[in-house]
Amino acid sequence: MAAIDMKNIVKKYGDGFPAVNDVSIDVADGEFMILVGPSGCGKSTLLRMIVGLEDITEGEMVIGDKVVNDLAPRDRNLAMVFQNYALYPHLTVFENIAFPLRLAGVSDDEVDRLVREASKTLELDEHLDRKPGNLSGGQRQRVAMGRAIVRDADAFLFDEPLSNLDAKLRGQMRTEISRLQKRLGITTVYVTHDQTEAMTLGDRVAVLKRGVLQQLATPRELYVNPGNLFVAGFIGSPPMNFLPATVEGRTVKLPFGEVQIPEEHARKAEGKGLLIAGIRPEHFEDASVKQDTSEGSTFRATVDVVEWLGNEAYAYIPFEAGSEVRDQLAELERDLEGESMRSQLVVSLDGASRVAEGDEAEIWVDTSKIHLFDPATGENLTVDLEHAGRIPANDDPEALAEAERRADEGEAERAQAQGA
Ligand SMILES: Nc1ncnc2c1ncn2[C@@H]1O[C@H](COP(=O)(O)OP(=O)(O)OP(=O)(O)O)[C@@H](O)[C@H]1O
Ligand SMILES: [Mg+2]
Repeated sequence: MAAIDMKNIVKKYGDGFPAVNDVSIDVADGEFMILVGPSGCGKSTLLRMIVGLEDITEGEMVIGDKVVNDLAPRDRNLAMVFQNYALYPHLTVFENIAFPLRLAGVSDDEVDRLVREASKTLELDEHLDRKPGNLSGGQRQRVAMGRAIVRDADAFLFDEPLSNLDAKLRGQMRTEISRLQKRLGITTVYVTHDQTEAMTLGDRVAVLKRGVLQQLATPRELYVNPGNLFVAGFIGSPPMNFLPATVEGRTVKLPFGEVQIPEEHARKAEGKGLLIAGIRPEHFEDASVKQDTSEGSTFRATVDVVEWLGNEAYAYIPFEAGSEVRDQLAELERDLEGESMRSQLVVSLDGASRVAEGDEAEIWVDTSKIHLFDPATGENLTVDLEHAGRIPANDDPEALAEAERRADEGEAERAQAQGA
């Protein structure tokens, strides 16, 4: 096993576009690291650079205590499981798992021992003589993992290994991968754009956007203390609500009324003009159901639609957003690939709530949980930096601006090249 240290990694493909842009991620020995972000943000590229399938343009890739930039994939001793885990259809499950060992010229006895050990872990014992074509998706997935396990690799690298499976199987496999990784204690880097996988599997999660690392933190830190609008909108479902807000003293003016926020948050947002407030759906409640509304604030609003799910209910409350924030939210929506930022508030209420469509309801909001974002930079002004992991933009805003500029330039060049 080994730690993987990515230092200021840059990848430019032939067209000059920085697909990965000055990314530094330290994966500790035995850690489960997730790379997450929208399509095209550079997750697979980064993973392929770790394995050695892609050249590194700039920066240093360190595995264990070795710089591996110039090492061939076979000399890096890593096991990769791809999205399309290619199994050999004419070989049995046993031989599929044994494949890398046969290549390495391992003795028959040893092959037998290692394959059976892996198949026991993966609960594939009764399938060893079958062919992959007769297996379910999840079983095939496990065979692909078996092949990775027997190699005694220093680290596992997964590129969206579950994306071809149906929802139920995906859930099962997720638990299985998690259990297996903990049991084997093997350093793992796992690419996904599924935020449930990111939140449930990762010790830490690296959120990428257009090749730039946005935040590197534990799932809880990302959820509670997103460093910017992008991370805030990306993590959480239904997503965080974004509303225009102005702060005066401790008072925040929101489309549905005024609320008081904690002094220290208010201070950080003072004199910044029009801001974007971020409030998660679960930080609202039907005031008539809430036992104690002494903390936080309440407001009255007309509920447009209610979705009652038994244990909870989602209520939708439309509001007006001015043009200044609308532009910023439209851009965010593009970055998040159409996660809807419509100007409506989504609130999650207790299942006991009797609020119905068309009602004017009294809604309580936990004002200590309100984030305030700078609409120009997207920065979360109220973030608790001690519990937010690493936010590269805060370490070095100039480097980030430079990285963003390079991404814009690259995109322009690419558009030009495509036009030519
Ligand atoms: N061989 C290549 N040549 C040129 N550009 C490439 C190449 N491979 C990827 N890219 C570009 O690099 C960027 C990152 O691609 P990458 O495949 O790493 O994204 P990803 O985050 O894995 O996306 P997805 O979730 O869709 O798999 C994209 O803009 C992509 O178009
Ligand atoms: Mg990919």
